[in-house]
Amino acid sequence: MYVCNCNGIREREVRAAIEAGARRPAQIFKACGSAAQCARCVCDMRQMLDEKREALSYAAE
Ligand code: FES
Repeated sequence: MYVCNCNGIREREVRAAIEAGARRPAQIFKACGSAAQCARCVCDMRQMLDEKREALSYAAE
């Protein structure tokens, strides 16, 4: 499934970028060798970042 249609970035690529340390959408774009264009995907990226943050906070408890 594509998260970013402008750049053809798939969900698994976003998750890999987050696992590699990306903490902001700009860092995800950079990790994928692209840049924001319409930015419609940024909300979805932020949601995936929040999910990761939540998972880490539960793991730390
Ligand atoms: S959908 Fe990602 S920049 Fe347009």
